[in-house]
Amino acid sequence: MTAVEEVVLGLVRRRGALPADEAIDLALYSEHGFYAGSGRAGRRGDFLTSPEAGPLFGVLVGRALDGWWRDLDRPDPFVVIEGGAGTGMLARTTLAAAPGCARALRWVCVERSAALRGRAAAALPVEPAARVFGGPAGGGPVVTVVEDLPAGPFTGVVLANELLDNLPPIIAERTVGGWVEVRVGEERGRLVEVLVPSTEVGRAGERWAPQAPLGSRIPLVRQAARWVERARSVLDAGWVVCIDYGAATSTDLAERGFDGWLRTYRSHGRGGGWLDDLGLQDITCDVPADQLQPAAIEAQAAWLGRLGIDELAQAARSTWHERAAIGDLAALRARSRVSEAAALTDRAGLGGFLVLSWPAGAMSGRRASS
Ligand SMILES: C[S@@+](CC[C@H](N)C(=O)[O-])C[C@H]1O[C@@H](n2cnc3c(N)ncnc32)[C@H](O)[C@@H]1O
Repeated sequence: MTAVEEVVLGLVRRRGALPADEAIDLALYSEHGFYAGSGRAGRRGDFLTSPEAGPLFGVLVGRALDGWWRDLDRPDPFVVIEGGAGTGMLARTTLAAAPGCARALRWVCVERSAALRGRAAAALPVEPAARVFGGPAGGGPVVTVVEDLPAGPFTGVVLANELLDNLPPIIAERTVGGWVEVRVGEERGRLVEVLVPSTEVGRAGERWAPQAPLGSRIPLVRQAARWVERARSVLDAGWVVCIDYGAATSTDLAERGFDGWLRTYRSHGRGGGWLDDLGLQDITCDVPADQLQPAAIEAQAAWLGRLGIDELAQAARSTWHERAAIGDLAALRARSRVSEAAALTDRAGLGGFLVLSWPAGAMSGRRASS
């Protein structure tokens, strides 16, 4: 039995069946949780996250930032708060691309895991948070690393790549008697799923997936919805933009099947059941966009297309053809840019991710243009 399983079992014995989001939260973020370690990359087998795939994603995010900065009339400071920043790779690659807004840029890495905050701080030119939140205009980019969303108000963007899928869901199952909650209970000293009637979950199931087949399950992503609301509320102008795998509707996820939307990853491959080896495997949940009500939604491939990924890939292809025989660094860089662009826009993989955006709390109605 893992250390996290012992904690969960203790809680079940004291309090009765535990909501799935509580158990998953302990499995990911408690003292012995998955993200308490030094942070394991390569969460989906051979797949990396988009920023981990190479420098190209950061180049394009830099272009997106410049677009949002211009849309906001070039504020200085221009605050970018990155939720779930992990090892800080997106900040590194974006800053290395030297976007036009760099002098105004204040980049705040928000990372819940202390181990990953340490890795981000070691990899970035980090300054005290006071310089970001209270310092004079210009002189950017200024970078800091913090544990939670800072209190605003700021003008800028809250950006998160693959954060929402790591915010634990409640699990609802449709039975003949209606929607019930899937909780964690105990059977002969082992953690098992138990179905518990719940008026609230019943209502939510009916609201989000009234046509779901009997026996199907959906996630109820209240933590993700709360995070998005908090993120919107720290901005007085700008946008919250989250990039994640998911589906347009909760009904799509019901049809995708439980194993299809609640997945585990371990040692660069798929893991076991979600209650197996708690704390030793990543647990991720596809995001049902309808529950988060974004103002705009598009596939990552289309978003990157608008930011010019195809032109960058074409230029790299030409460089590769010209220099392949020389085989110098420029040739090799060009070749890896071509394959990176293909990975980022592959609609069966990273390219199929959803880019969801919301206006700042005070700006309802305006849409992110970049
Ligand atoms: C899948 S990783 C993505 C890391 C990085 N954004 C990337 O794309 O490579 C999700 C990260 O979100 C962090 N996280 C989870 N909940 C968080 C929260 N409420 N606030 C800040 N970070 C959080 C986790 O610790 C983890 O580092």
